[in-house]
Amino acid sequence: MPVRYQITGATSAAISGSVESGIRSGALAAGDALPAVRALAAELAVSPATVARAYQELRQRGLIVTAGRHGTRVRPRPPVAGGRSALLPPPAAGVRDLALGQPDPRLLPPLGPHLAALATHLGPPSGYASRAVLPALADAARERLAADGVPAAEITVTGGALDGIERLLGAHLRPGDAVAVEDPGWANLLDLVAALGLRPIGVPVDDDGPTEAGVAAALALGARALVVTSRAQNPTGAAVSAERAGRLRALLAGRSDLLLIEDDHAAELARVPLHPLAGATPSWAFVRSVSKPYGPDLRLAVLAGDEATVARVAGRMRAGAGWVSTVLQRLVLDLWSDPSVAALVARAGESYERRRAGLIAELAARGVPARGSSGINVWLPVADETSTVTALRDADWAVAPGALYRIGADPAVRLTVSPLDEVDLAPLADAVARALRPGAPGAYAT
Ligand SMILES: Cc1ncc(COP(=O)(O)O)c(C=O)c1O
Repeated sequence: MPVRYQITGATSAAISGSVESGIRSGALAAGDALPAVRALAAELAVSPATVARAYQELRQRGLIVTAGRHGTRVRPRPPVAGGRSALLPPPAAGVRDLALGQPDPRLLPPLGPHLAALATHLGPPSGYASRAVLPALADAARERLAADGVPAAEITVTGGALDGIERLLGAHLRPGDAVAVEDPGWANLLDLVAALGLRPIGVPVDDDGPTEAGVAAALALGARALVVTSRAQNPTGAAVSAERAGRLRALLAGRSDLLLIEDDHAAELARVPLHPLAGATPSWAFVRSVSKPYGPDLRLAVLAGDEATVARVAGRMRAGAGWVSTVLQRLVLDLWSDPSVAALVARAGESYERRRAGLIAELAARGVPARGSSGINVWLPVADETSTVTALRDADWAVAPGALYRIGADPAVRLTVSPLDEVDLAPLADAVARALRPGAPGAYAT
């Protein structure tokens, strides 16, 4: 059904501008259908080619998506809208927010003491001469990565994992190129891929990581890059196992046509060992963010890779943002060097483990299967996302609809355990069981 927003324009630029302003103003919401090309062309008295050009431009910029018989729709989170999309509205007062997917602020290391210590040895303000990766940070990162089996001779620093991934994809791929991404996978990555005008190819994920068959299929379909989450995969909690890593390394060996990107966002928070793919292909990058263990507001990730790939990222950084502030780099180095911070991070990892495994056990006790073998999320397969999200919201729990994370994967919802205390687990599991099986309080028979 065409939406009521009146798209205007006599040229493709004016038509795409009209759609964009509809999205910006909220008149066109995520998921809204756009008129068929011919219908809109007739309405605007322009040629179908003009409307097709406008839609093509909007598609390449990630504002709309064309999905076969579902027609052309506004993407879940088009890169012109601010804040949460209509799929993830802010929860009402009294509703516990399990939809946000962020680490537990109660478990992040306090920055105050480290900022105070930094103030004493920072020295005078520096100017453009500080444009660099701090050698001490690079050395510390190399040591930490090498301990996990990642060859890190070449290293640079970016403004977080997604910034690194954006620079990698931008440096290696062109609009229209295909990228293999986990399905379900991280919503922000799917948004980025759309915004760069790249074509996502979904690779199924089981608890051991991306499946071998899925990666092989993506390669056969011409994927130019593959993004793999090492541990705490968002949203399913998968972690690449030793066996899967071995098989994927063999599959990818020598593929000079593929950029391999690994995202180890869980980093020091992960309670499972890392089994890297790094170095399996000539072009590769391994990105480790500090967001999850030390705080998303730090906006820093280290990026290791082959010489050419790291040089492209560093060079592109220099041509744009310049560098990641050395004040921030010093702060991260300080956090890394403090054994009391390491102990806090380890305790946080154990706490997520208890809460995630505890919730899965409570759900299992009610006959509700759910996934999540590492990290901060539980992925709950459901028959209908909208009715589950609504029923849980009515029970004062906000959860994220799987649509944000899926390409072709089955419906599910994502629950982040960060805001939960252990006393919450049983009541939440009751609410989930009721939401999945209305009328049978606390009981869910599969
Ligand atoms: C899979 C994945 N990668 C990376 C990140 C962190 O990215 P950044 O370093 O840009 O904050 C997240 C945060 O939710 C994530 O889920």
